[in-house]
Amino acid sequence: MAKFIPKEKLSKKAQKELNRQRRVTWGFSPVTKTVDSRKIYSRKQKAQIREDDGLGTFLSEYTVSSERLTPEEYIDFLKRTDLGSQYPKERFGERIARLVNTVSLSLTARNEDGLLIGVLFGLTDFAYWLYVTDLGVDRDYTHRGIGGQLMRTAHELAGGEKDIAVYLIANENAVPFYEKLGMKKADDVMQYSHVEWTDFTVE
Ligand SMILES: CC(C)(COP(=O)(O)OP(=O)(O)OC[C@H]1O[C@@H](n2cnc3c(N)ncnc32)[C@H](O)[C@@H]1OP(=O)(O)O)[C@@H](O)C(=O)NCCC(=O)NCCS
Repeated sequence: MAKFIPKEKLSKKAQKELNRQRRVTWGFSPVTKTVDSRKIYSRKQKAQIREDDGLGTFLSEYTVSSERLTPEEYIDFLKRTDLGSQYPKERFGERIARLVNTVSLSLTARNEDGLLIGVLFGLTDFAYWLYVTDLGVDRDYTHRGIGGQLMRTAHELAGGEKDIAVYLIANENAVPFYEKLGMKKADDVMQYSHVEWTDFTVE
């Protein structure tokens, strides 16, 4: 068996090699679930999205993926969903940039043209808990199953319903949606919140 030498005592080269070996132990980072390609999960969903190209209506598909968004694309999306009124005005751009770059689960739904039509962000330990921080669907694409699909995919990616309990703060209008997914109001959650909060809508 190789003799154990504390990492600090190794040469720079040996430390680099050790870091490299540790990195390959994970197929993907357990924290961000991203790999070099940025996309680790991609699934085509047959969706009954009725679109109109001016000549008539047709059905198209959408793709659910795990990918990092740029702040610009997310902010553009927020203008097309009612989720855009669920952030405080305080330091908006700076905090959205931090959110998209670091959140542990980042799921998107895109239509056939690649347009972002749904987003779910979540925090998970991939062992016990999933806290869904943000969920929104483009107003032109609601009631087509996309929100439900994003919730199910997030749960599955975090570890599945036998292991993972899901929590979130529900917007009042979305309560019936979450109830349809089988969620119930909890009375055992504690909070500490003294954040500054000036209402505003991303337009
Ligand atoms: C809430 C939201 C994410 C739902 O997404 P969606 O893609 O429209 O949801 P789905 O089509 O998957 O709906 C699943 C079921 O919930 C129902 N549902 C969806 N929104 C509903 C609502 N506001 N009230 C009642 N039922 C609703 C659907 O009819 C569907 O039922 P069905 O399976 O019997 O047809 C979307 O409306 C949205 O982005 N809202 C604005 C942002 C928001 O409030 N996000 C939640 C933050 S907590």
